[in-house]
Amino acid sequence: MYNRWQGKCDACGAWNTLAQEASGPPVPVPGASRAAARGKGRIFPLEGLQGASMDAPRVPSGIGELDRVTGGGFVPGSVILIGGDPGIGKSTLLTQAGAVMARAGHRVAYISGEEAVAQVRLRAERLGLNDAAVELAAETHVEDIVATLSHGVVPRLAIIDSIQTMWTSSVEAAPGTVTQVRGSAQALIRFAKTTGTTVILVGHVTKDGQIAGPRVVEHMVDAVVSFEGDSGYHFRILRAVKNRFGPTDEIGVFEMTGRGLAEVSNPSALFLSGRDLSAAGTAVFAGMEGTRPLLVEIQALVAPSSLGTPRRAVVGWDPSRLSMVLAVLEAHGGLKLGQHDVYLNVAGGLKITEPAADLAAAAALVSSLAGVALPADTVHFGEIGLSGAVRPVAQAQARLKEAAKLGFNRAVTPPPARDQGEKTPLAVTTASHIADLVARIAA
Ligand code: TYD
Ligand code: MG
Repeated sequence: MYNRWQGKCDACGAWNTLAQEASGPPVPVPGASRAAARGKGRIFPLEGLQGASMDAPRVPSGIGELDRVTGGGFVPGSVILIGGDPGIGKSTLLTQAGAVMARAGHRVAYISGEEAVAQVRLRAERLGLNDAAVELAAETHVEDIVATLSHGVVPRLAIIDSIQTMWTSSVEAAPGTVTQVRGSAQALIRFAKTTGTTVILVGHVTKDGQIAGPRVVEHMVDAVVSFEGDSGYHFRILRAVKNRFGPTDEIGVFEMTGRGLAEVSNPSALFLSGRDLSAAGTAVFAGMEGTRPLLVEIQALVAPSSLGTPRRAVVGWDPSRLSMVLAVLEAHGGLKLGQHDVYLNVAGGLKITEPAADLAAAAALVSSLAGVALPADTVHFGEIGLSGAVRPVAQAQARLKEAAKLGFNRAVTPPPARDQGEKTPLAVTTASHIADLVARIAA
């Protein structure tokens, strides 16, 4: 924050990005002083409380992949922020969710601050959902919205598209400023808590991946969900970043079609489609996303470098994780990679965060360096330690079962953990040290 006009932002170095913002009086909380005066802050005993977090009553949206991410449906009175790049499909997803809920007999309101009612209706028509009784409004003034929604039956679901376009008369800042976004969100959250309506706030994300403005809203809402995807691919991933009422490690997978988003109940098949089975430098990783196994292809390219400092580039995985695996391969696997450029890519635009991907990444790297293709019917998983040891990972059985289901015959895994007694239809090879893996591929 700066007290005078300034052209350059000292924090990020960008020019002409600072905007003026008046620091208005704090947003008044209605009834706050009254309540305090009368000593109204009531205290409840913990053991008698109903409906605590995980067991909160829920209203399923009717879209399985969305319910998986929220933890089984919408909790009445909760507020969800859904962020994503412009054009990623947020409005489409919420139009579909709203329509499905309206068809199930719930009152659903879709408030657009970006498009005219006709445009929203046109989208619904394109999606084949124009018969659903969703109430549409093009409105940006929060007080008007709250007044409209409070009229008649309280809506089960209210979708606000987007929070950046909303403004409230309770603060004096210009529309679009952080102060307005915060004030509007506060008013809408209060509406949700008092009426029991589930409110979904749409938030646009800036280039650097932050939810612009709505960043300040993230800590106020019950759940933050991000809708991701690469414009080059036709699938989209819904991921919970924060969830007061459910898990944060589940993902929902959707495929973009001409008639909107279709649920993908078997994502592994989608991510493995179009695989080049005879190429060196690819390995299939048997991963987990929450409770669901997910198989993806990891691609590596290791090539002699003409640069003084060889290049290291990675898409879809943690660069520091790649550096570590490369260092371990050099120190304990006998590989010489100092003069090689290394590229690593997770196919399909997926992002992997599990350490269990180490072994698959290492296998892809060794395969590329050796110029030897790995057997196409093999999956890999296992975490690699700095000593070169391959360590067991959670849910080995679930990973193996998914691989078997998709037609894989072999797996390279860490030594089995003690609780891993079950038989699997796969031929399992254990690699207890990174040297085992190198020896097997390069042999
Ligand atoms: P939209 O939902 O408007 O994106 P957002 O609200 O996140 O900005 O979708 C952007 C465009 O993509 C829109 O022109 C419709 C198109 N689209 C499809 O044709 N099929 C789909 O499945 C999706 C999700 C979008
Ligand atoms: Mg939109």
